Amino acid sequence: MKTRLFTPGPTPVPEPVMLRMAQPIIHHRTDEFRDVIRRVSDNLKYLFCTAQPVLTLTSSGTGAMEAAIVNTLSAGDELVFVNGGKFGERWGEIAQAYGLTPHQLAVPWGTAATPQQILEMLAQHPATRAVCLTHSETSTGVFTDVQAITAALRQQGYPGLVMVDGITAVGAHEMRFDDWDIDVVVTGSQKGLMIPPGLAFIALSQRAWEFNQTSTLPKFYFNLAEARDSLKADDTPWTPAITLMLGLDEALQMIRHEGVENVWARHGRLAAALRAGALALGLRLFASPSSNAVTSITLPEHGGAFMKLLKEQYRVTVAAGQESLKGKIFRVSHLGYYDEADMLSILFAIESALSDIGHQHPEGAGLAAAQGVFNQAARQRQGGA
Ligand SMILES: Cc1ncc(COP(=O)(O)O)c(C=O)c1O
Repeated sequence: MKTRLFTPGPTPVPEPVMLRMAQPIIHHRTDEFRDVIRRVSDNLKYLFCTAQPVLTLTSSGTGAMEAAIVNTLSAGDELVFVNGGKFGERWGEIAQAYGLTPHQLAVPWGTAATPQQILEMLAQHPATRAVCLTHSETSTGVFTDVQAITAALRQQGYPGLVMVDGITAVGAHEMRFDDWDIDVVVTGSQKGLMIPPGLAFIALSQRAWEFNQTSTLPKFYFNLAEARDSLKADDTPWTPAITLMLGLDEALQMIRHEGVENVWARHGRLAAALRAGALALGLRLFASPSSNAVTSITLPEHGGAFMKLLKEQYRVTVAAGQESLKGKIFRVSHLGYYDEADMLSILFAIESALSDIGHQHPEGAGLAAAQGVFNQAARQRQGGA
């Protein structure tokens, strides 16, 4: 029977990507592979909206977060991070592991930090050298306006770094790395990039490369200056994950073909439809403001049975809540390779499972609400065309 994946990583892998990865392996120190690196590098810059090199690391996303810290900071440095979920928390854990001095801004899980709150943290900790943010907090489904925060910081003359975990935001939300004056963005392959887990990506601003020159934290495998220098020759310091790189080449060409702004718009449209559908079924949304990558929905009564039905009866895999949110929410992905029909299929599964546990709602309400969002978006596109 057909199964469907709605988790915010790994996300579904498109057929052209799978077919490309099924080709015989090639050697990496060849012109053929250097062509792949060149094309991938160019398309990654397009995706991040940057003229800076975007480096590809063989690791999961956390590796790129660690690389961001160890390549720019030094022991004892102060940094501010937002703990509004499991992944925001991770910035603090990495900083702690490397003997930095992290200052935590704790916000209730399900909400986002505001520019004002970050400015207040900086006023309390004026020696802060880096502010670490999470653009899309996957554990709660919250979107943080990193553009507004960065603009507010720069307006106040903040000379330090703004580091953004864009692991589930890149591809789902507008990210204009150069224009927004952000210093570090990281993402991972198993998310908006639509390939299996195993690669991470990182871009550094000119300011971040300057910090790199004085950074004394230990680095070897994740030495980004080496990766940057290798990339100048369309090469990598270590053996790259060749097969994943071939898949990436295909996925990035798909993104380029669709157009990055259309990709962002599609994520916005699918997220809006899913939220409308869930609300029409009488469910409650957990996050505000909500990410375009993942929607967190409060579990209905008999949540355990509901989750079991989704998986076993309707063969859809969604993500459960993590840590303190276990048993309280479920999370539905619309990150990467999804379209309108996917949203209708998950809403069908949700409505059916709700009916099975005795939940009362108007028949087809979720589907109708989602369809309404799609119709409205289509009218807007036609009107604007
Ligand atoms: C926002 C965010 N940050 C960090 C991570 C960690 O990435 P990885 O599990 O690839 O190391 C994830 C993974 O889901 C994530 O969603």
